[in-house]
Amino acid sequence: MDPDGIVAGLRQAGLIDDVCPPFEPLAGGVSCDVWKLDTARGPIVVKRPLGKLRVAADWEAPVERYRSEVNWLRRARSVDPVIAPEVLAEIPAEHAFVVRYLEDSPVWKEELVAGRVDPDFAAAVGRSLADVHAATAGSASDRADFQDSSMFHALRVDPFILHVARSRPDIAPALEAIAEDLLSRRVALVHGDVSPKNILVGPDGPVFLDAECAVYGDPAFDLAFCSTHLLLKTVWLRDARMKEAAWALMEAYRDTVTWEDPAGLLQRAGPLTAALLLARVDGKSPVPYLAEPADRAIIRDRAIKLLRAADPIDRLVGCWEPGP
Ligand SMILES: Nc1ncnc2c1ncn2[C@@H]1O[C@H](COP(=O)(O)OP(=O)(O)O)[C@@H](O)[C@H]1O
Ligand SMILES: [Mg+2]
Repeated sequence: MDPDGIVAGLRQAGLIDDVCPPFEPLAGGVSCDVWKLDTARGPIVVKRPLGKLRVAADWEAPVERYRSEVNWLRRARSVDPVIAPEVLAEIPAEHAFVVRYLEDSPVWKEELVAGRVDPDFAAAVGRSLADVHAATAGSASDRADFQDSSMFHALRVDPFILHVARSRPDIAPALEAIAEDLLSRRVALVHGDVSPKNILVGPDGPVFLDAECAVYGDPAFDLAFCSTHLLLKTVWLRDARMKEAAWALMEAYRDTVTWEDPAGLLQRAGPLTAALLLARVDGKSPVPYLAEPADRAIIRDRAIKLLRAADPIDRLVGCWEPGP
């Protein structure tokens, strides 16, 4: 690590004095360096994307994607200041940015794994997501600010959906049609990585992090992406309450949709969820926690059936077996 440029940037932004506090790595994903620093003015987080992702498969992504995340965080806070951390500075020379560190705000995934499954919180996630979608739907300025879909393509559509299509000719036409539809829609501001590990359980509700795939696109993607994680966890953790959480998320989201007929959105989110379930076992970025081949086989079989059924997401979640 070479933090010299970052230290200079922090000093220039007035966030640290002469003595720089230690950089404490935060356990995160595969695509960024993330550090916490306890400064005299309170704790902060510095985040810098990596050019090459830490995954088994060879995978590169431009470091300029930090801009999408900064823009998403600012826009989401303008909808509701509770739902994203405050951006304190950008350090463009390092492709890095700084946000306020939120104390007493555990990561939602860790809460779920510890058995603290709260459907009311899942509902709040659904409402907050839909609030951002509602506020940005039909906005020409948001559409212009987030028009670049290259990152969403490189980090989501290609590795998750098209990667599986390339190795599965039997379902390739269905997956390619989903990818094409997804890329053709410009409906609202999509976060692109709404996973429980990117949501903090804040004192006032959910706080969303990690928006480097943000794009003006199909909001059904965010609903499908988060639902996928909860459904996977019914199998991984053998906890049926995860299905209740998925239902609460979907219901609250649906009830907050104002910009289009919710039925159409739920219909798009169903096959997308099936494709993402499959992607999380056979895509370029499989979830690390489904280590048992038998568990992966369960998800694969269900996902392929669901892909063929093409049900809306309310039916998909309603019929989901709440265990292996
Ligand atoms: N503002 C913040 N307040 C508290 N914790 C944070 C904050 N930002 C990031 N974190 C912690 O760091 C982890 C990694 O941050 P994230 O933005 O998700 O980066 P990555 O792209 O590496 O996943 C999060 O899962 C969370 O635990
Ligand atoms: Mg993350």
